[in-house]
Amino acid sequence: MWNSQCYNSLLYREVEIMKKAKLTASRDYLIGHVDPRMYGSFIEHLGRAVYFGIYEPGHPAADGSGFRRDVIELVKELNVPIIRYPGGNFVSGYNWEDGVGPVEKRPRRSELAWSTVETNRIGTNEFAYWARQVNSEVMMTVNLGTRGADAARNLVEYCNHPEGTYWSDLRKEHGYSDPHNIKVWCLGNEMDGPWQICHKNAEEYGRLACETAKVMKLMDPGIELVAAGSSNGRMPTFPQWEATVLEHTYEHIEYLSLHSYYTDLDRDTPNFLAQSLGMDDFIKTIVSTCDFIKGKKHSKKTVNLSFDEWNVWYHSLEPDKKLEKWTTAPHQLEDVYDLQDALVVGCMLITLLKHADRVKIACLAQLVNVIAPIMTSNGGGAWRQTIFYPFMHASKYGRGDVLNIQISSPSYDSKEYTDVPYIEAAAVYKQGSELTIFAVNRDMNESILLEADLRSFEGYVPVEHIVLENVDVYAVNTESDPFHVIPVRKEIPAVCEGIMTVELPKLSWNVIRLSVIGAAAVLS
Ligand code: AHR
Repeated sequence: MWNSQCYNSLLYREVEIMKKAKLTASRDYLIGHVDPRMYGSFIEHLGRAVYFGIYEPGHPAADGSGFRRDVIELVKELNVPIIRYPGGNFVSGYNWEDGVGPVEKRPRRSELAWSTVETNRIGTNEFAYWARQVNSEVMMTVNLGTRGADAARNLVEYCNHPEGTYWSDLRKEHGYSDPHNIKVWCLGNEMDGPWQICHKNAEEYGRLACETAKVMKLMDPGIELVAAGSSNGRMPTFPQWEATVLEHTYEHIEYLSLHSYYTDLDRDTPNFLAQSLGMDDFIKTIVSTCDFIKGKKHSKKTVNLSFDEWNVWYHSLEPDKKLEKWTTAPHQLEDVYDLQDALVVGCMLITLLKHADRVKIACLAQLVNVIAPIMTSNGGGAWRQTIFYPFMHASKYGRGDVLNIQISSPSYDSKEYTDVPYIEAAAVYKQGSELTIFAVNRDMNESILLEADLRSFEGYVPVEHIVLENVDVYAVNTESDPFHVIPVRKEIPAVCEGIMTVELPKLSWNVIRLSVIGAAAVLS
């Protein structure tokens, strides 16, 4: 017997002309649990991320420590459980000791990674304090460029040892009586890249990372370590870099890092939207490399992945070439993101979710002003870029178990990719309460009808369909028009005999939420 929704179902309305995609989800088939750290981010001492981003003493919204409350509120909306710090390329020339102790005694340094001046007004303690205000853990990166094991183990002692040793007592003297208890540490940054300060080859880095890991863990056996993988999948040394580094470090680390940024320099939207397929391949190759070394070493341990820099980055590349050198907090890497960037970010989030069994940490790079979801103006407002929304939705609703869904979608070929599905989707299930489907429609011209077979989810009803779309694929949010591209609520999809039908508008990011009957009122 059909319920009344069957008459409303798009299946039975005039939709013959629409393209269709089919999805089947079962609560018994899971990819893996989403580690909350999948929704991490990154703040580097770069451009206006720290100064005039999170920290602006004298701003009307600044708290007693100079941190902007308006920015804190926006970061909290994203619910970011872990934030990588202080770099990035910056860390490979950084002396962490410059950033602790009395502020007036801290040196102004030439910062060689980005050709600026670092004032050291903010350092380890202030950042750890700020991270607590936004309910985040710090993911600390150590300098394996100009420095090494000694500076790294001292920093672990300074941050994590309670008291009674030189560095822990110095932290207390600096006004921080409780240790910061930083759990996750990155062994350098992008050491495979020739642009890196004191770049190393894989053998050199592998040995250094191994010995540094050992002394850091002697200092605090409770920490987790991330070895630096390739800067991107196009590096000539990829994936041999990973194999060599793992040969040296396998038994001393928990994660291997991946970085990747995507561009649309050719203004080719279908190809740009397809780039998450490249991200998927990149992850698969690194998983295989980790498991190859595991096999080679006859190890029982599995090394997981930390995708600790990912985003779209290209809008600011040309303007940044004209920046004056040796200034403080310049407008650097300030990409203004449009709708299509948000769709690519959505596809990348879906791709990360599809690898939830192995990707345990991921950091959207970065968080404020520098290739970021949050922008500020000096002395002025703070606003959400387009990419803020897919990240916020995934972070809010994408916690639970990722389902191993089956999906068939019409597809297209682009300049670099073949058989690109128009519909990219993932489903996350919170046992006993909620099921969320995230989907991007890559089609430039048409809506696509998604038929989702949810018969395994008896008792669940759709409660919300959120869509991010715009007539202009290049539409952006700015300080003067901050709500130009925002998500809207669409008609709640109908379900007929366990099949949910929902129209996914052309070029859109979609969040379709279902709740257990009875829980709906509580959850919405
Ligand atoms: O996030 C910007 C830069 O990109 C980082 O400093 C570096 O690690 C990467 O190349």
